[in-house]
Amino acid sequence: MQSSRIASVLARASSRAAAVARPAARRNLSSAADAAKGKVKEAAKTAEAAAEAAKGKAKEAAKTVEGAASSAAGAAKSAAGGGGGGGGGGGGVILFGLLAGAGGYYAYTQGMLDSVLGKSDKAAEASSGDAKPAGKAPVPAYAAKVATAVESLIDDDDNRGPLLVRLAWHSSGTYAKGGSPAGGSDGARMRFSPEAKDGANAGLEKARALLEPIKKAHPDISYADLYTYAGAVAIEHMGGPHIPFRFGRSDFRSEAEIASAKAAVASGRLPDAAQGASHIRDVFYRMGFNDQEIVALSGAHTLGRCHTDRSGFEGPWSFAPTTMSNQYFDLLNKEIEKPGYWTVRKWDGPKQYKDPTGELMMLPTDMALIEDDKFRPYVQLYAKDEAAFFKDFAAAFATLLHLGVDEAKLGETA
Ligand code: HEM
Repeated sequence: MQSSRIASVLARASSRAAAVARPAARRNLSSAADAAKGKVKEAAKTAEAAAEAAKGKAKEAAKTVEGAASSAAGAAKSAAGGGGGGGGGGGGVILFGLLAGAGGYYAYTQGMLDSVLGKSDKAAEASSGDAKPAGKAPVPAYAAKVATAVESLIDDDDNRGPLLVRLAWHSSGTYAKGGSPAGGSDGARMRFSPEAKDGANAGLEKARALLEPIKKAHPDISYADLYTYAGAVAIEHMGGPHIPFRFGRSDFRSEAEIASAKAAVASGRLPDAAQGASHIRDVFYRMGFNDQEIVALSGAHTLGRCHTDRSGFEGPWSFAPTTMSNQYFDLLNKEIEKPGYWTVRKWDGPKQYKDPTGELMMLPTDMALIEDDKFRPYVQLYAKDEAAFFKDFAAAFATLLHLGVDEAKLGETA
């Protein structure tokens, strides 16, 4: 029994290690971090192998792992900050690689090993018998693979990054605090009417179709998690901040199921770009956001473009629409510094604004952020301070993606 618990602990350790490795890979950190990432990946492999061994040769593996753990623990503690781990053979070295190579990840793993090996009575009690230790579900093992698949979709055509961000936002942005139905991303209702037919979602059928092969390859991920996680991955892959993400959403299976659960969200909850500040507040306050969060979230319009065949509007907001940056705020701020920078475009389409080059556009709702006295200071702040924008955007976007999802369903943060 001891050994099967070790096996399951090591298996969980391996999926955790992969989860630790992913954000580092996606952020393209320094070579030192890359080296650490390599070690973590190695550690994950080692843990997987050890788990297999423990499963097969129960008693022997338990002994080896226990002995190795206690002999490696001391060495690993001193090496944990440095992230190095030597080669060689034998169980002790394998575990040393696992613990030392993973750096900060060491503490987590060691805590679990301690609990299994009886080094901490409290922890051992918590995980006694065959019952799983109480707590949230770990980040699923498929998370890293799904992230890689989303990244390669974007690498094949970088216009897909912004489209996936819009999918995540429109999946979540139907939420109404205390509303009936509550709306939000849980259920992945956008696959069915009425959300599928909502004019505000025009074009997002393309995003959903793009993700279909990923769902087929990883059937355990729910559509609701996939539609939101893809947006989080896209932000980071386009150079933006890491978006804390928790898996656990589930899917409705049909329009009839949504109807019988009285969970269908009628059109009209997503914002109308032709309106002004009070409409923006109505929509985002309904979700529970404040003025600062509204401005931060709107910064996603540095990405992507409007399409005449989807919204009727036309053109990109920034000169680098596939790179996450604070350029949107910089461009809005030009109007504050030099009134008349943005002018109403003369054309047959809906009212929108153009910059002096004629290449860029702003929607009436974008301009409302500088017309409104309470929104304007945040535009100025984010124009000057990209780090502040990234930090506030990451927090608000993470909140958005989890709106309406029962806390009890959500697992650990990836
Ligand atoms: C007042 C609030 C908002 C309004 C009125 C609005 C409106 C629009 C419109 C009209 C489009 C063009 C769609 C098309 O023609 O393809 C668009 C695109 C986009 N929106 Fe928003 N949006 C708002 C808030 C947000 C938020 C909160 C986010 C994300 C956090 C977001 C992310 C995007 C992205 C990334 C695109 C580009 C999609 C692409 O390139 O295919 N928007 N938005």
